[in-house]
Amino acid sequence: MSFFEIQGSSPLSGQIRIHGSKNAVLPMMAATILHRGTTVLTNVPRILDVFWMIGILKTLGCQVWFEEDVLTIDASVITSSVIPRHLAEKMRSSIIFLGPLLGRCKNASLWYPGGCSIGSRPIDLHGEVLRAMGAEIQEDGEHLDVTAKRLSGCEFSFRFASVGATENAIMSAVSAEGKTILNNVAREPEIRDLCRMLVKMGARIYGIGSSKLIIEGNSQLHNSSFRVPPDRIVAATYLSAVTVCSGRIQLYEVPVYDLKAVIAVLQKCGCRFRMRRGCLDAWCYQRPRAVPYTKTQIYPGFPTDVQSLLMTVLSKAEGVSVIEETIFEARFHTALQLQRMGADIQINNSCAQIQGVALLHGADVTAMDLRGGAALTIAGVSAEGKTIVRAVEHVFRGYENLEKDLAAIGANIILKQ
Ligand code: UD1
Repeated sequence: MSFFEIQGSSPLSGQIRIHGSKNAVLPMMAATILHRGTTVLTNVPRILDVFWMIGILKTLGCQVWFEEDVLTIDASVITSSVIPRHLAEKMRSSIIFLGPLLGRCKNASLWYPGGCSIGSRPIDLHGEVLRAMGAEIQEDGEHLDVTAKRLSGCEFSFRFASVGATENAIMSAVSAEGKTILNNVAREPEIRDLCRMLVKMGARIYGIGSSKLIIEGNSQLHNSSFRVPPDRIVAATYLSAVTVCSGRIQLYEVPVYDLKAVIAVLQKCGCRFRMRRGCLDAWCYQRPRAVPYTKTQIYPGFPTDVQSLLMTVLSKAEGVSVIEETIFEARFHTALQLQRMGADIQINNSCAQIQGVALLHGADVTAMDLRGGAALTIAGVSAEGKTIVRAVEHVFRGYENLEKDLAAIGANIILKQ
């Protein structure tokens, strides 16, 4: 098992280019099977989740080429609509094939998806919207079989604006007969990006970026190429790093607009920001300040994916902070690892109370999930002494080069086997 070895407490300085977004590229890869032809994605991050998705696409019969950051998917022929257990269990995003498979093959068969252990991850909302479009779903507790003799447009309102269920609904609506109206959809930037890609492929989608989408089905799709936008959570990771470690960094290809909520909270911590010639300059030369209350929320609120990273920052802040987690209940398990580094965190149901300490100290800690792993890594960079972060395979699911990027801005970190 590989681990990061970090010699902590260095201020950060330098530039980082933000790679393509994990949460944007995964549904885009699934969407390529809606088209009986070739789709090219550029700026694709070389992360584990992308390689697993390629494995699924090949199992379905697609031909796939991945050279540098260019991913070419030829879905002219689909030979199977079954996602086998070993691939489905590796990642939550395997569920994102439900909509496109239904659209393309009128049936889909998959094992319950896996992914980060950040809480129970039900798929009832995916089922509800697909049923409304005419799908029949059979479940036996481990396995899903979905069929639709005919997929028909419908009007559907989500009880909760789930990202994955919205993506599945959009992709099946593109191939359904007639018009679909989706109300209370998730508005995360990755939904907007998926819609823009589908429109470039020939789909007719209206209301992009709003909470109501109208999709005219049965569009003639064609070959196209699309550039994956930069990853807002990766950018938030480095902004959190400079806030907790101090220093000054510049981020290139950064989706500033999508980071509004994160930037607003880090500003309260004392980090300062300026856009200059297309790059985001961020600096912080003081101990972070506490933020009395932050609540994770659906977009445009503060993202749950940045919660553990903020917890690291607040662990060293002056004063008491509270974070309320409203999306994924088990994300707080990173707090136990931060406590091993000297953080003073009390968990009470969905709230974490953080009494900032002046110093974190190096420790042997274990990444429990993707973003938690990144949070422990930046905690190690900001701590006194040596930190070992184990189970960094979690981190490789979503970061192309976390340790190299941090080393390039002055962190003393190496990957060891
Ligand atoms: C996506 C992101 C993930 C992010 C999350 C919330 C990807 C690949 N992953 O995950 O990084 O943290 O959005 O922004 O894009 N839920 C149900 N029933 C369902 C579906 C979801 O109850 O059928 C609940 C979940 O348990 C969770 C909440 O809704 O509590 C949010 O889930 P959802 O928005 O679906 O997140 P994902 O698509 O899994």
